[in-house]
Amino acid sequence: MTDPSTIERHSYDVLVVGAGGAGLRAAIAAHDAGAKVAIICKSLLGKAHTVMAEGGAAAAMGNVYSEDNWRVHFRDTMRGGKMLNHWRMAQLHAQEAPDRIHELEDWGALFDRTPDGLISQRDFGGHRYARLAHVGDRTGLELIRTLQQRAVALGIDVYMECTVTKLFQEGGRITGAFGYWRESGRFIVFEAPTVVLATGGIGKSYKVTSNSWEYTGDGHALALEAGASLVNMEFVQFHPTGMVWPPSVKGILVTESVRGDGGVLRNSEGRRFMFDYIPEFFKSETADNEAEADRWYDDKTNNRRPPELLPRDEVARAINAEVKAGRGSPHGGVFLDIASRRSAEYIQRRLPSMYHQFKELADVDITAEPMEVGPTCHYVMGGVAVDPDTEESTVTGLYAAGEVAGGMHGANRLGGNSLSDLLVFGRRAGIAAAAAATAAPSERVSISDDDVTAAADAALAPFERQGGENPYSVQQDLQDIMHRLVGIIRRADEMQQALSELEQLKERSAQLSVEGHRQYNPGWHLALDLHNMLRVSECIAKAALERTESRGGHTRDDYPATEDDWGTVNLHCVLDDDAVSVRRETLPEMPDELRELFEEK
Ligand code: FUM
Repeated sequence: MTDPSTIERHSYDVLVVGAGGAGLRAAIAAHDAGAKVAIICKSLLGKAHTVMAEGGAAAAMGNVYSEDNWRVHFRDTMRGGKMLNHWRMAQLHAQEAPDRIHELEDWGALFDRTPDGLISQRDFGGHRYARLAHVGDRTGLELIRTLQQRAVALGIDVYMECTVTKLFQEGGRITGAFGYWRESGRFIVFEAPTVVLATGGIGKSYKVTSNSWEYTGDGHALALEAGASLVNMEFVQFHPTGMVWPPSVKGILVTESVRGDGGVLRNSEGRRFMFDYIPEFFKSETADNEAEADRWYDDKTNNRRPPELLPRDEVARAINAEVKAGRGSPHGGVFLDIASRRSAEYIQRRLPSMYHQFKELADVDITAEPMEVGPTCHYVMGGVAVDPDTEESTVTGLYAAGEVAGGMHGANRLGGNSLSDLLVFGRRAGIAAAAAATAAPSERVSISDDDVTAAADAALAPFERQGGENPYSVQQDLQDIMHRLVGIIRRADEMQQALSELEQLKERSAQLSVEGHRQYNPGWHLALDLHNMLRVSECIAKAALERTESRGGHTRDDYPATEDDWGTVNLHCVLDDDAVSVRRETLPEMPDELRELFEEK
């Protein structure tokens, strides 16, 4: 048993868990609002999935098309999310994104420019106008660099390589968090009346993913276990273009900017197959012939969008269908061709990272030959249900922002909307958490020794077992189940099979054992992460089984149609007796002045 008096303790107003864009932006906002703030991050500061939003941050600044404004952005976002988004989040996001981009520029971000010196904006799927502020194809990296420098300059405390395993509560309110230093394995306790979760996504539950090792659904699981609900968990985004070859880099992201800047998708017969996959919902705004599609790059006002720039769910499904029909590339993807459409100088200037990525990892010169690409698990639309204005969950003192929060993107996120999402809602979460934490300082409750001991004992349990299950084999089996049975195309019998296999994995994971000691022990870290991965996988599979229709990032082979009845229903996952249960909630009513926007041309 761990002696709690030997454990390092700290006290803050606002604890931010996660140091990607949302966490950094929340911490800066909370600090600026006068709170004492700490950032805890599992990885090194600056290493976050935010960098995988390569192509840009969506914001209707109107720099390239003056017709663009927040209303058009709002409408595109809702349509892309198949109208299942929380309208208020989509509204705030569209209204506030331009200010957040200008603010980043004030803090030193170096965006690419238009010929007349404004912030340049590029095309992405589902956005009516070119509206992604970008820095070549390294936008997320520049965003992180800027926010990180600012957070460090403000003197915000950062606990790097530190993982949170438990949130503490008293009387239904957050009182702090428990974690461990990855390097030493020593425990650490944070007392804080507010916690902002900004832990990102769940991608590591899938076999092919653009996510790196950190993305094990930690914040999702922490919130669920604290009593919050997770909304829209059935909607997982498979980015249409990940690398498919060589195997060591399978899943690594190929930015949508390649298509935004003119690249097209072809099958093994050389056919630009996306013309065959234009859904009814997008027919009026999508070009159905090559000439019109190509004219659109120069004139968005009078031409319809190329089908390669349909929302991601549509493109990923189309690629999947082509491969299944035997028209795939040699390594099981399709061809993404920009070489035959743009000059080498243009490609190297606009897409420098892609150029180097393919040259170095696959020995492919993208200025001379096509890339082989296929869908990769990139993002989860589902996350902690929050109040749209404050980002507070149903648990007092618990906030969530960025990918770990749900509602903003509905059934499918438009590319580029994640960077602006994390700026808008990271800031809002930080402000609200700071206000709540500093409102009544005398009411703080300290964390009991019993709670600390219980958290420490739970974390150490894998060391107590001998000869049990190996965490790496459980992780491999989990990724295989989710890939095979709850992937891009789903069916009831397969998801039931997944749920029964997940139950077996839960039993096996209760027997996980690790060897060695607590100093940097990746097997132990994974054993703790697996708990979270299993929780979110159960949410995804249960919600996906419940939703008997196809919509956005949730495609059912057995229920292929999008059903009106489901168009007003959000699924919420909650924890009941250590098992996930799913309940239905009606979407909040959209005000008339916003609803009318969908009637405009
Ligand atoms: O394709 C990309 O550059 C990814 C952007 C995003 O996920 O927002």
